[in-house]
Amino acid sequence: MNAVISPDNLDEIEAGIEAQINAAGDEAALESVRVATLGKKGSLSEQMKTLGKMSPEERQVMGPALNGLKARVTEQIAARREALKAAALEAQLVAERIDVTLDPRQTGIGRGRIHPISQVWDELSAIFADLGFRIAEGPDIETDDFNFTKLNFPEGHPARDMHDTFFLPEREDGTRRLLRTHTSPVQIRTMLKDKPPIRIIAPGRTYRCDSDQTHTPMFHQVEGLVVDKESHVGHLKWVLTEFCRAFFEVEDASMRFRPSFFPFTEPSYEVDIRCRRSKDGIELGVGDDWLEILGSGMVHPNVLANCGLDPDVYQGFAWGMGIDRIAMLKYGMPDLRDLFEGDSRWLTHYGFAPLDRPSLAGGLSR
Ligand code: DAH
Repeated sequence: MNAVISPDNLDEIEAGIEAQINAAGDEAALESVRVATLGKKGSLSEQMKTLGKMSPEERQVMGPALNGLKARVTEQIAARREALKAAALEAQLVAERIDVTLDPRQTGIGRGRIHPISQVWDELSAIFADLGFRIAEGPDIETDDFNFTKLNFPEGHPARDMHDTFFLPEREDGTRRLLRTHTSPVQIRTMLKDKPPIRIIAPGRTYRCDSDQTHTPMFHQVEGLVVDKESHVGHLKWVLTEFCRAFFEVEDASMRFRPSFFPFTEPSYEVDIRCRRSKDGIELGVGDDWLEILGSGMVHPNVLANCGLDPDVYQGFAWGMGIDRIAMLKYGMPDLRDLFEGDSRWLTHYGFAPLDRPSLAGGLSR
C-alpha cells in the first residue's frame, strides 16, 4: 500500500483500499482502514505531502488524481460506516428481542383482572347495542366550537364556567383547544357526519379541573343521542328505563324526571332512579327515595340547526351519564379516586375475570 502512487497504479491502489473498506466487518476495523489511509500518517495523506515536491507538470496530473481518490475513499468509508451501523443495530434488535406478553399457561389465565370501568363500559355497550344503538367516538382534545359553541353555549355564557375546563395554549389564529369537558361534542360530530335516523352512544374520557372524593380530573361519561322525525320524551323515558333495568339488574327501575337546564336540550331533565338508603349503603330499584343518575332532554333546535339539520323536520333526545358513577353504584365502590389509583389489591378485589365478557344472553356481571 505504501507504493508510490503514479497515474499508472492509481486504479489498482483505489481497488485495494476499496477491498479493505468492504472487508471491514465492524466499525473498529473500518476505523483502522480510515486511519491507515486518510489519517495523519495514512498512505493517502503521505502521498498528498509529496505533491509539493513534484514538478508543476506532474502536480497538474497527480493533484486532481489524488484529491479525487481521497474524496472517493472518504465517501466509501462513510457509506460503509452507515451500513455497518445499521447492521449492528439490526443485530442488537434481534439479540435483545424480548417477549413482553405474559404466558397465561405459566401465570394462570384467571389472574388478570378487567378494571370495573372497562367492565361497565362493555356492559352498557352490550345493552345499548341490543337496543339498536351504534357506538360513536370523538377525540379527547376538542375544539371550543364543538365542546361549547355548537352545543348552544353562547360565548361568555355562564354555563361555560360550570365546566372547569382544561384549556390548551392559544394558537396563532387565536383559537384554543381544550380537553373535552363532556362527551356531548360527539353529538355534534355525529350529526355533522350522519343523516338521521341517528341512534348512537358515545362512551369516553372527559376532563375537568376538579378533584375530591367524588371528582377526578379525568372521568368517564356515556352520551346517548337519538335523532329522527318523531322521537319524543316518551321514547327517552323508555330507553333509559330499559337501560337501568338491564344494567342495575332490577325489576323496578322507576324513574323521576325533574326539570333542569342544559344549554343543548330543551326541555331538560335530571333523572333520578328509585332507591333505598340505609346504613349498609344504597339499594336501587326498591324503597321510596331517589338518586340522581343522569342528565337528559330533547335536543335543542339551535343544536340541530348548528349541525345542518332542519329543526322543523327533525327532533331527538339525548342524555349524558357518568360511567364511573354508575360503576360505583352497581359494584359498591365507595371512593371514586380508588378507580384510578392502579392498586393491584383493589383490582384483584373489584376486577372481573378476563374471559367473562358481558352479554345480555350470558349475563352482564359475575
Ligand atoms: N353533558 C352534560 C354534562 O356533562 C350531561 C348531559 C346532560 C348530556 C343532558 C346530555 C344531555 O346529552 O341531554 O354535564
